[in-house]
Amino acid sequence: MSEEIIVTAPAKINLALDIIGLRADGYHQLEMIMQSISLHDKIKIKKEKSNIKLKCSDPELPEDKSNLAYQAAELILNRGDIQEGVCIYIDKRIPVAAGLAGGSSDAAAVLTGINKLYKLNLDNDELYKLATEIGSDVPFCLEGGTALATGRGDQLKQLSDLKKYYMIIVTPPVSVSTRYIYQQYDQLKIESNISVSRLAKLIENEKNINWDEGWANVLEKITSKLVKDIKIIKKKLKKMGAKFTLMSGSGPSVFAITDGYEQAFKIKEKWDRTDDFIDIAWNIKRNLQTCEESINIH
Ligand code: C5P
Repeated sequence: MSEEIIVTAPAKINLALDIIGLRADGYHQLEMIMQSISLHDKIKIKKEKSNIKLKCSDPELPEDKSNLAYQAAELILNRGDIQEGVCIYIDKRIPVAAGLAGGSSDAAAVLTGINKLYKLNLDNDELYKLATEIGSDVPFCLEGGTALATGRGDQLKQLSDLKKYYMIIVTPPVSVSTRYIYQQYDQLKIESNISVSRLAKLIENEKNINWDEGWANVLEKITSKLVKDIKIIKKKLKKMGAKFTLMSGSGPSVFAITDGYEQAFKIKEKWDRTDDFIDIAWNIKRNLQTCEESINIH
């Protein structure tokens, strides 16, 4: 009974994000380019005789059904008709409610982890269906890499791998509700002309991104009005030499593309806004969210 598995749950950034309409189900019709990055949570999942237990290194996080990782465990155990349970421990490194899909990625990792731990053999289509029930970003997090996401964010087209870009991730100490940001978007009726499909074609044609080609996030205008730190952080990153900065998802995290590891390292070393989360990261390829180790204790 003491088998356990350790899985990694990478964060994502949005290289582009546009809203093209409102759907009948109340969700927004999106066009986004999603990219998984090296920043990740680590999750240990252990077989238990019964029930789901969730523990998290960050005491602020809920350890009940309101946590997406808990919902993922419940869904897949039911789907696999498993009577036993699991104990899940999340070593949280991705900032919470920050536009980096940390909770969604944890949920995706729990789905793939339990699928392996209990040898359920659910195929990608079945995992995808469970993922869409949990949240719009969860399907992308199952495989990661670089993808064009449309619909609610759950219709995915994999794109070619990009070359390795070293970046800096900065999150000011403010959490943002995705739902609230979308509501504000509806009220403010912001116009945008981000050509996400054109940008996706650019990725297909050349792995070297020209950051002057109109990479943008329509939600940045909304969240920046509420979180003044975003503009300040972007300006500071540019001043320190970053070539491109953008808010990720509904924010407030900002990523900054640098010239390479050395520049990223220097920016991190010199960062003097002590309350911010800051880390160096890089884009990672598809399917890197695989089980790292599988341990049989007895
Ligand atoms: O799907 P998920 O639960 O992660 O979405 C969180 C919230 O973000 C939704 O309740 C909704 O308000 C908003 N949302 C949206 N349109 C999308 C994705 C999310 O309006 N395509």
